[in-house]
Amino acid sequence: MPDTVHVLNGPNLNLLGTREPEVYGRATIADVEAACRAACERHGLDLVFRQTNHEGELVTFLQEARGSRGVVLNAAAYTHTSVAIADAIKAVGLNVVEVHLSNVFAREAFRHHSYVSPVARGVICGLGVDGYRLAIDALATAGDRVS
Ligand code: DQA
Repeated sequence: MPDTVHVLNGPNLNLLGTREPEVYGRATIADVEAACRAACERHGLDLVFRQTNHEGELVTFLQEARGSRGVVLNAAAYTHTSVAIADAIKAVGLNVVEVHLSNVFAREAFRHHSYVSPVARGVICGLGVDGYRLAIDALATAGDRVS
């Protein structure tokens, strides 16, 4: 379990590749998973990669990540609305790196607030699929510093 990283994706990210490509790029969710798998392999880590369109399921996925090295979380729109997801992160004491493909701060004002950020270890946004890789690198190399 401590050698496993969970990458959890929220609503509409299953549509990556065709969803607003000018905002989110052309990479599909399968491309994101492949990039995450390659990053984990480089660090000798196992990967659990999941996507859901349902808020409660994301809460369950977070609970199931207990005991892992950490979580890369793109909660998508739930980032901006979900107290339940923030509570789950606090409840399980996970190292979470919040990731967004787009630069949410360069977009609509409602995307500037995140319920996840105050309970996350770090935040990466605006770097596309690279953000996922960088988050995995951080979880892999930060060791005890990430607490
Ligand atoms: C997103 C940004 C969110 O504001 C949006 O609701 C998403 C995707 C991103 O990866 O840029 O669905 O999390």
